Amino acid sequence: MQILQTIKETRQACAKARASATKPTVLGLIPTMGALHEGHLSLIRTAKKQCEIVVATIFVNPTQFGPNEDFSRYPRTFASDCALLEAEGVDILFAPSVEDMYPTSTSRTFIEVPGISDRLDGLSRPGHFRGVATVVAKLFHIVSPDRAYFGQKDAAQVAVLRAMVHDLNFPVEVIVCPTVRDADGLALSSRNQYLSPEERTRALALSRSLGNATAQASKGTHDASQLKSAILQDLQSTPTLKIDYVEIVDPTTLEPIADLQAGALIAVAAWIGKTRLIDNALLSAT
Ligand code: PAJ
Repeated sequence: MQILQTIKETRQACAKARASATKPTVLGLIPTMGALHEGHLSLIRTAKKQCEIVVATIFVNPTQFGPNEDFSRYPRTFASDCALLEAEGVDILFAPSVEDMYPTSTSRTFIEVPGISDRLDGLSRPGHFRGVATVVAKLFHIVSPDRAYFGQKDAAQVAVLRAMVHDLNFPVEVIVCPTVRDADGLALSSRNQYLSPEERTRALALSRSLGNATAQASKGTHDASQLKSAILQDLQSTPTLKIDYVEIVDPTTLEPIADLQAGALIAVAAWIGKTRLIDNALLSAT
């Protein structure tokens, strides 16, 4: 695996990998912020099956963190991340510095996806999706992938990035992979490292409430407000859990919906102590 830190080297390495291929070549990109777990690795494994060249990135992107968020304490485990990526057969790892990605004297252009960016996590974390869209657009320009892999775990991020790719005509296919969970249901997240054992047990309320709601929907409940109340009740009964949002929305526009029959995204976010966790369930049309 080539480990590259500069934009110039990465551009050249990606172009060279394509040029030296003897048959039509698909290049897959997996953007990450590191502190890798099985969720990230599932994206890499899917990309490895579908692409001849696999490029991963590790960059804790400052522009997607709010001033009082966890940018400085976000887990950074570069050496073990490299070992994991190498073992999965990643061809190129791009791990730039903040200075290289955002030279302070010259960075002034940002990507905004209005509307979608102001819902769910975008409402609780103003400016978050502006930072995500901007850094992903930059990575697309640097790596020029044919496909880019993202996790359903961050459903609002998927909606924002799909809209950006559509609106700005990026020649990139967005591939969304299912959420990977621990055996007890907790969605894997780099932020789970922040949880004490007691907090981790309480965090199970998120996946449990979504599981109950999904079961109710499969028994024929079509009324979104009824499901929302059930989830709120479930979460409210968990000590020290603070609900950020419970929303039932259209997965593409993130607009609230009243009837579940056309399919729906049920998304929840909650604080367990100082840690904010998200999870979601996607209901298909009935
Ligand atoms: P990060 O949180 O590191 O996640 C990188 C990718 O892994 C994202 O597409 C995310 O949805 C996916 N992922 C995380 N947990 C997952 C899980 N349990 N199952 C499946 N996929 C999972 O998301 C980001 O970084 C950043 O916003 C980024 C897109 C890299 C832009 O900075």
